[in-house]
Amino acid sequence: MPDPREPRSRSDARSPLTSQEEEREHGKPSTGGADDGVRLDGGAASSTEAGGAEVVGEAGGDAMRHLLAEFRGSSGLVALIVGLSFVCGVLETAAITLAVATLSSVVMAEIAAGDPSSLLGFSLPSPWVAVQLGVAAVLVRWLLAVWNDWLIQHAVTRWTIELRSRLLTAFLHAEWRLQAEERSAAVQERLFQSSTQVSSLMATVLTWLQSAITVLVILGGALAVNAVGAVAAAVVSVVLVVMVRPLNAWISRSAERALESMLRSAELVRSCLELVRELRVFGSRDSARRAMLDEVVRQDQARRQALFFSAFSGQLYFTLVMLACWGALAVVLLLEPARFAELGAVGLLLLRSLGYTRSLHTGSTKIRGLLPTYEDLRRFERRLAGLGREREVASGRTPEDTDLVLEGVGFQYPGSAVAALEGVELTIPAGTSFAVVGPSGSGKSTLAQIVLGLRRPTAGRFLVGGIAEPELDPAWWRSATAVVTQENLLLDASVLENVRFYRQRIDEAVVWRALAEVGLEEFVRALPEGLLTRVGQHGARLSGGQRQRLCIARALVGAPRILVLDEPTSALDVHSEQVVQQCLDRLAGRCTRIVIAHRLSTIRSCERVLVLDHGRILDLGSPAELEQRLGYFREALSLSSG
Ligand SMILES: Nc1ncnc2c1ncn2[C@@H]1O[C@H](COP(=O)(O)OP(=O)(O)OP(=O)(O)O)[C@@H](O)[C@H]1O
Ligand SMILES: [Mg+2]
Repeated sequence: MPDPREPRSRSDARSPLTSQEEEREHGKPSTGGADDGVRLDGGAASSTEAGGAEVVGEAGGDAMRHLLAEFRGSSGLVALIVGLSFVCGVLETAAITLAVATLSSVVMAEIAAGDPSSLLGFSLPSPWVAVQLGVAAVLVRWLLAVWNDWLIQHAVTRWTIELRSRLLTAFLHAEWRLQAEERSAAVQERLFQSSTQVSSLMATVLTWLQSAITVLVILGGALAVNAVGAVAAAVVSVVLVVMVRPLNAWISRSAERALESMLRSAELVRSCLELVRELRVFGSRDSARRAMLDEVVRQDQARRQALFFSAFSGQLYFTLVMLACWGALAVVLLLEPARFAELGAVGLLLLRSLGYTRSLHTGSTKIRGLLPTYEDLRRFERRLAGLGREREVASGRTPEDTDLVLEGVGFQYPGSAVAALEGVELTIPAGTSFAVVGPSGSGKSTLAQIVLGLRRPTAGRFLVGGIAEPELDPAWWRSATAVVTQENLLLDASVLENVRFYRQRIDEAVVWRALAEVGLEEFVRALPEGLLTRVGQHGARLSGGQRQRLCIARALVGAPRILVLDEPTSALDVHSEQVVQQCLDRLAGRCTRIVIAHRLSTIRSCERVLVLDHGRILDLGSPAELEQRLGYFREALSLSSG
């Protein structure tokens, strides 16, 4: 059975995609991991140092385009960052050139006669003025660069918050079927780890842009100072970029493999840790440990491979770029040996640009490693917010009564060959109690989910007070329904927060009344912090029966008109079951109770019993009638009473 009611309003999650892009996406097969694009941990390839320059390969072209679309909302900020980077580059180039030119002019004035002040084709200021100008340029550049870096950090923090809230909204507002299918560990990882990585990706893109502009300005400066040297350097750089392209594809592929492996091992470890009690009892601890360690080792191998490619590419690139610089200098030396000062300035500028090209390559490698994570998050968001977004009427209708009618209701799970429910014709009058029984897999929980509006019939109609469920006012419908499941899931929070369950309109007096109804009032009053006592993870500080009764209090506190209980008492002792039963009986007339039950006492106390088998109604009648005429029912009752 599902979790308690989920938010159902239309998602307002903002997606950067245009409708055209969405259409294209729908038809496009996922390039994701084992479970359609579950990707994590771009850090595999991202944390490495590397050198060289190129943006991202064609494989990441689409992803890159989508990522750049994320920046559209902040175009002003990006323009400011670009402008500042340009000014910083100009100041840096000017400071370097001025320093070399001044130094050369002083040295040459001492060594030889001539007019050193026009060495670079423009007249130089006096050395002291040059020093002052140089210092001023360096300091102003420093201030602007700090501002620029701060702007990037500021923008990234904002994006991270926006991204997380978008993902969270998309998940909470997705259709139940998608929420039920998503693996919780993967959702959590995406919300925290992946979104942090994507923020880091965005920071890297901006830093990359910053470095690219600075490199261009510095190379432009070098070109102005000595065209031959600068052109030689540019030609060698282009050759290098082309040479390392295949390496980039390897980096991307190994990063993707590392991400998939990381997710698989996270999922395995999570599920094993959750079942640690069972592993102990069944004596499977050691084999489970081995399986987990094997997976961790596999993950480590994939990660190491990704790191190796990154490191290898970084060192190779750095070496090649160094060679390019020296090659360019050699060309200048060969062609224009007399132009010593210019040669010095070009050399220094090229060396300076080397630092930036190194960070350009580091950035490209990191971007390439993180793009799959971004694509995964984007697909995840789209899957939830786009395809899986709940259709909801803007202003629905509120029925006069809450008679529930199922007209030929059928339900088939996607990808399933057989229907879970078929031709269910049923009327449940408001305020009555209704038991649903049947063998395992007969469709009881599916029926409960349809009644709660979590799933919509794939055939037939479900009506509440004569109104089809999709046309109901969603807010009213949410407040009219409640659910209690066998799993008795609780928040790691206080008793009060668990009963109130984020419905702030419910005050403490109502919470106490609900606790009294389920026989927990005295127990809670005796707790050290009363209502504010925390129940521990999964309610670990409470007994199974107390947990279940707390869940029932959570359902009752909203005064529901329809209460669905999926095997609520099967985990309770006789006393707790009695308390729950009395509490359900007290709801007679006020609230429709649909109880999926196996216990004889629970079934007998219901006015009518529906027997399901293979998704079809086998029988429907009072407990006494069914006992008379249905062998299966008699057998089930005798078993449960035995
Ligand atoms: N998410 C799902 N995807 C595909 N098939 C599903 C899904 N959930 C349930 N089913 C199938 O639908 C049928 C009805 O399942 P349902 O959970 O409603 O049974 P149930 O009567 O509640 O069983 P139980 O008493 O064991 O809880 C089963 O055959 C089951 O395998
Ligand atoms: Mg079930």
